[in-house]
Amino acid sequence: MGCRIVVLISGGGSNLQSIIDAAQAQQLGGGDVVAVISNKADAGGLQRAERAGIATNCLPHTDFSSREAFDAALQETIDQHRPDLVILAGFMRILTGGFVRHYLGRLLNIHPSLLPKYPGLNTHQRALDAGDREAGATVHFVTEELDGGPAIIQAKIPINAGDDAATLADKVLSKEHQIYPLAARWFAEGRLSLVASKAVLDEQELPQHGVIFNEH
Ligand code: GAR
Repeated sequence: MGCRIVVLISGGGSNLQSIIDAAQAQQLGGGDVVAVISNKADAGGLQRAERAGIATNCLPHTDFSSREAFDAALQETIDQHRPDLVILAGFMRILTGGFVRHYLGRLLNIHPSLLPKYPGLNTHQRALDAGDREAGATVHFVTEELDGGPAIIQAKIPINAGDDAATLADKVLSKEHQIYPLAARWFAEGRLSLVASKAVLDEQELPQHGVIFNEH
């Protein structure tokens, strides 16, 4: 029985698409996307899931009176799909400690910065404002610290003179589409785990930035 993956989204779902494509190309270590859940009814990623014949749920956070109530309903919805792995792919909600603890070790996120730099929002503008020479994205295990869990893999791109936040977002996103399916594949293959608050790949504890992605 392969790895059952539930993906949470809030938007366009291009990262979701990269994971669906990898699964269809048998590049996900036997992993299978069994459901896609959005907190926004108009998230474009819901159509991507439907096109791929994947079950979808929409759970608007605005229907709930508290973060705890939303996360409890979200957890219940996710668990109906009996996931081995839960993937946050542009899911723009801060999660409660209870939710994170429930999925600890089987909850991944992708963040558009070279963590630990720039947790939170507006990552590309912040990198530009700081005069950084490179930008990137990081896949990490989710822990209770926002964007602070152990890194699994990181991809870098150079920042050039003409770049603005939009050009950086585009270039980083295309790297995201390469590294997220790879991390999901490692997990599905049983090679990746969270052990004593460290990311471990093939029995090796990963460094703080995770694996540095190299296309070649
Ligand atoms: C991606 O760049 C992802 O890294 C970012 O949102 C975008 C979603 O794009 N996630 C975060 O900022 C999480 N805090 P997508 O919907 O096309 O995958």
